[in-house]
Parts: sequence; structure tokens; C-alpha cells
Amino acid sequence: MNVIEQIHQHRSIRKYKPDPVSDDIIDKILNAGIRTSSSGNMQTYSIIITRDPDLRKQLLEPHYHQSMVVNAPVLLTFCADFHRMRRWLYISDAPDNFDNYFSFMVGAIDAIMVSQTVALAAESLGLGICFLGSTFANADQIGRILNLPKNVVPVTGFSLGYPAEDPDLRDRLPSSGLIHKEKYQSIKDDGIRKIYQEREKKGWLRYMQSKRLKELAQEHGVENLAQLYTIVKYTKASHQEYSTKILDYLSQQDFMNNTRQ
Ligand SMILES: Cc1cc2nc3c(=O)[nH]c(=O)nc-3n(C[C@H](O)[C@H](O)[C@H](O)COP(=O)(O)O)c2cc1C
Repeated sequence: MNVIEQIHQHRSIRKYKPDPVSDDIIDKILNAGIRTSSSGNMQTYSIIITRDPDLRKQLLEPHYHQSMVVNAPVLLTFCADFHRMRRWLYISDAPDNFDNYFSFMVGAIDAIMVSQTVALAAESLGLGICFLGSTFANADQIGRILNLPKNVVPVTGFSLGYPAEDPDLRDRLPSSGLIHKEKYQSIKDDGIRKIYQEREKKGWLRYMQSKRLKELAQEHGVENLAQLYTIVKYTKASHQEYSTKILDYLSQQDFMNNTRQ
């Protein structure tokens, strides 16, 4: 399969065979990831390979008990990492300008880009992955379990292993709603409705298959997919709480010294 055909076959995998992933394969996919472009070629990221079942059990709670964390043989955590770089600056008598939010974002972008390359490399070898948003939502707890020093923050991660399921391809919004020619083209409300038309049907049907989501939707009088997203799934309170928690963690990790001296 060529790269584009492979990309079009991507599905998140949440059920895995118990078969281990060999060191050779891990090396191969991570070394492919390391070829990813990075800001200034500084490579301000780290990748943590967690296979130990006890450690993965500890990670289960901050990952909201998502079964892939323990059922897949490998968990990869991608971190924004200025620790190594800043230490190198220190021992080289070079000024350190990287203790701020901008630097965190530089490291986060590097780490996230690497993660997608590793995901594609893994899929090209018949492995399956499922990204875990809990990695960033609970970066503080995960960082403590993984012994992260200052200047290192987990930003994304995924379970990795041989697929034990063959799910259908998930739909995508029409590309016409996502791509703008030359400059951003503002879209009127009827255009917005059209972009989400199919998603409203498919997404609603999908979520109503979950007993818990269906009950919550009924309890809150939710009538459509948009309401389901923000009244049930991604509430203001939860998003404000996560924002505060992450900003506090960025401070603890020495990434929030943003004021001019
Ligand atoms: C940043 C990010 C975080 C995600 N977090 C989770 C997660 O915590 N649990 C999960 O089951 N899927 C997670 N996913 C997978 C998405 O649900 C999935 O990519 C999306 O539904 C589209 O399905 P597909 O990947 O099979 O095409 C995440 C994906 C991304 C990119």
C-alpha cells in the first residue's frame, strides 16, 4: 500500500491481541518518528515506552480507566521536553530562554508531530493505535507516575499493539468545510449546517448506542448532537477545570515565566 492509501485506511484500534510488539518493531517505528521535522531541529520532545503491566495499571486511573491502557501491550507517551535542552544550555554557559509558555508550545508541537509519524509507521507494519486525550487532560498525574522532571510535560500518547478488531472507517466532515482557498472564507449559517448535516445523523446514532450517553442525553433534555457535545460530553465546567489544572502544572514544570524582566 502506498502512504496515501494507508492513511485512508486509518481506524483507531481499541481492542488488541495479547501478542507482544518486538523491540525491533518499536525501534523501527520510533526511529521513523525521529525523522519528523522539529522546530530549529532542537527535537524538544521525549517518547516514553511503557510496557510494564504494573506501571500501566497505575496509569489506568488518569487515563479514565480506558481499557486500551492495559489491554494493548505498549503505551507510548509523547512529551514536550525542554529539560535536556535547558540543561545543555546551562552546562555550555548559554543563556536559557525556554522557561515560558511559548517554549512549551514549541515542544508540544514537536512531540505531537512525532507522535503522528510514529502512528503512521506503526500502521504501515500492521499495528493499531488509539490516541489518548487523557494524556494531556491528566498530564500532572501521568507526569508524576512517569517520573517526569521539570520542563517535561506529557502532551499526547497512544496504545499500541496488534488489532483484535476491524472497526468501520469513521466519517469525516466534508473537505469543503475544512479547506479554504487562499484566505479564510467565512461560512454562513446554512453552510455550517450543511457541513455538519451528515455528522449530526451519524454521530447521534453512534452516541445513542452507548447506554450511558443515551441516559445522560435524556436526563439533560438533549435534542441534538451539538447539545450532546457541550451539555454532556465536553462541559464548560470540565474544560475550565482542565485549563486551570494544566496551567498550574505548566507553572510547576517551569514553563510559565512569561513576564519581561
Ligand atoms: C488528540 C486525540 C485524543 C483522543 N483521545 C481518545 C481517547 O481518550 N479515547 C478514545 O477512545 N479515543 C480517543 N481518540 C480517538 C478519536 O476518538 C478518533 O480518532 C476519532 O473518533 C476518529 O476515529 P478514527 O481515528 O477511527 O478515524 C483521540 C484522538 C485524538 C487525535
